[in-house]
Amino acid sequence: MSVKSQVTPKSENPIYILMISMHGLIRGTDMELGRDADTGGQTTYVVELARALANHREVDKVHLLTRLIDDPSVSSDYAQPEEDIGNGASIIRMPCGPSRYLRKELLWPHLNQMVDKCLHFLRQQGRLPDLIHTHYADAGYVGQQLSLLLGIPLVHTGHSLGRPKLERMLASGRKPQALEKQFNFERRIAAEEEVIKHASLIVTSTQQEIDLQYGLYTNFNHTRFRVIPPGTDTSRFSPPKRHKIDINVQQMVDKHLADMDKPLIFSISRPDARKNIKGLIEAYGNNPELQAAANLLIVAGTREDIRDLEDSQKNVMSGLLFDIDRYDLWGKVSIPKHVSQDDVPELYRLAARRRGVFVNPAYTEPFGLTLIEAAASGLPFVAPDDGGPRDIVGNCRNGLLTNTLQSEAIAASLLAMLQDRKKWRQCANNGIVGVWRHYSWAAHVEKYMKEVRRLLRRDKKRLRRQHTIIQNSDRSTMPLVKMALISDIDNTLLGEKNSLKSLSNWLKNHRNKLAFGIATGRPIESAVAILKKHQVVMPEVLITSVGSEIHYGRNLVPDVGWAAHIRHQWRRDALAEALAKLPGLSLQAPENQREFKLSYIAKPASMPQLNEIYNYLHDLKLHAQLIYSHGEFLDVLPVRASKGHAIRYLAYKWGLPMQNFLVAGDSGNDVEMLVGDTRAIVVGNHSLELAELRGREQIYFADGCYAAGVIEGLGFYGLEVDALIQEFGKKGSADV
Ligand code: GLC
Ligand code: MG
Repeated sequence: MSVKSQVTPKSENPIYILMISMHGLIRGTDMELGRDADTGGQTTYVVELARALANHREVDKVHLLTRLIDDPSVSSDYAQPEEDIGNGASIIRMPCGPSRYLRKELLWPHLNQMVDKCLHFLRQQGRLPDLIHTHYADAGYVGQQLSLLLGIPLVHTGHSLGRPKLERMLASGRKPQALEKQFNFERRIAAEEEVIKHASLIVTSTQQEIDLQYGLYTNFNHTRFRVIPPGTDTSRFSPPKRHKIDINVQQMVDKHLADMDKPLIFSISRPDARKNIKGLIEAYGNNPELQAAANLLIVAGTREDIRDLEDSQKNVMSGLLFDIDRYDLWGKVSIPKHVSQDDVPELYRLAARRRGVFVNPAYTEPFGLTLIEAAASGLPFVAPDDGGPRDIVGNCRNGLLTNTLQSEAIAASLLAMLQDRKKWRQCANNGIVGVWRHYSWAAHVEKYMKEVRRLLRRDKKRLRRQHTIIQNSDRSTMPLVKMALISDIDNTLLGEKNSLKSLSNWLKNHRNKLAFGIATGRPIESAVAILKKHQVVMPEVLITSVGSEIHYGRNLVPDVGWAAHIRHQWRRDALAEALAKLPGLSLQAPENQREFKLSYIAKPASMPQLNEIYNYLHDLKLHAQLIYSHGEFLDVLPVRASKGHAIRYLAYKWGLPMQNFLVAGDSGNDVEMLVGDTRAIVVGNHSLELAELRGREQIYFADGCYAAGVIEGLGFYGLEVDALIQEFGKKGSADV
């Protein structure tokens, strides 16, 4: 059914759903279905689902996020940043990658950008969604990042899956390399595996999709699956009842027929060999009883001249005509030439009025939209004993399943349905009722919301179990918070117990105002261990390994966007090999060697000067950043990685201006994040290297040492820490 634009009275605390569908040409009206392979079923599905969901009493609003396409070769509708599609639903379009239209296989390199765009959008709105629902692997990738970053549950609909498609294509003899080049299967399948592992719920259209398609994935057992078939627009498809059937449509059918009062066996499909129109003709042609009982109406696309069709279609159509002639079915078979979209519902009704049967003779049928259209029209069907039809017959009891590989079986089922009047009537009625109950968007949304209620309840329980004082503590505060404190660990936070304890408590209680992060040379494992040991509140952001890694929250969600960003020009193995040849450098312990960081113990006396090392690497066409600290460590990092760059990246990603970052440090390797647009705090116990920063703008030199120095700095920058300052006075002192 179509969702009417009525206003539903809303329940208390209705939810906000963020849907993401990356590819295709998506708009609220005049959808360009079939314009290309990416603009079809999925694009209709997401728009109709968004509207139907927004109409539900427990849903406040739905944003359907997609790519903004600004391209003279497509309509300018796709370049509008926002489109209201009714009922509280809107399409939000955001630029991502090049502005021109791209087919879905080419979107992969641009998806991290979509994650960032989306974070900015949410900040602008000042509200986070309660649920993220993604469609297809590309959006799944984006949504999963968001879900991890924000701590919001993810629902996913695959629409189609990479693994089964790849297997099918390999089985048909295509070369793996060529397939990879055209379709980017590797990235797609990897993204699908991750989504399956992470999603709280995966929605499928049929049970078979779960068993045969998702069943092929390694992480299959991780997720909850629910079959919730899509709604069908049954406002177009309705039983004939009092309806007068369009006379032109009738004539179009009847002009081929000798006895037009007989029931109509109706079949509609693309002229594709797998649709097995040939088997249907055989079934009919070999069975005189069936010919006596009914006429056959075949709609197989529209044609001008069969000779102009592409080869595969030409073969199907000419074979069809040859067979009609061979079985001499003239006057019994109707194959109209021009059938418009508006004629189709009329054809179903005509067949229903004449007590006919719909038949889908295809070898396989994963879903079976035409069967639902037939059902809505009060027309019983015969269909292959396969996934889609099985579900539909199971739900509606309105048709017969048959072995479509055998034409005799098709004929027998058709006769069985045509000759049993009572059964026919029952099936016709069951279909009409069943479609409303199982295949309308209203029914879809009821089932959907039941699942969502359950999963949001579970999510809340989980949050409660984590028994933190602050509500929703698993949710990141980064997207909405107005300020952040990023502090070095050793000798900045750590050094004096009491002030640290007070600072930590204060940060915990103010986490919705000020996000707390750390930036350290330590690898993540050791950073977490030392924070735990000193009972420091878990940071919202962890910049570790000298800025080469960023993680978030207690679950230590890695920022894959950062990894992708700094990978630029980084050739770790080649660098390690080149540096191994230099004197005075020996590798640090294995836990300090990371994907994006090589660390050495450097003997200043015997190692080359830094600029000599730079030149040496330059001659080898190797690019890296060398950070020498404490007179004994040399860190080798990608050119884009450092504590300071990491903070700049955070500012960009989370849409927080640099001035809103307070940054605290004590030594040489903090310099880079202390200077610049951030507002810096240098603790009283700082090392000599930092003395030269004195007097610079936006760098506050605290008298207090360690955490007390940080507290003092917070006060200087206007945060309400008076009580703490009173407790620790101006000067903190070390434990020792
Ligand atoms: C930390 C790291 C080490 C690095 C040093 C200086 O101690 O563990 O790998 O070299 O900081 O940044
Ligand atoms: Mg330090």
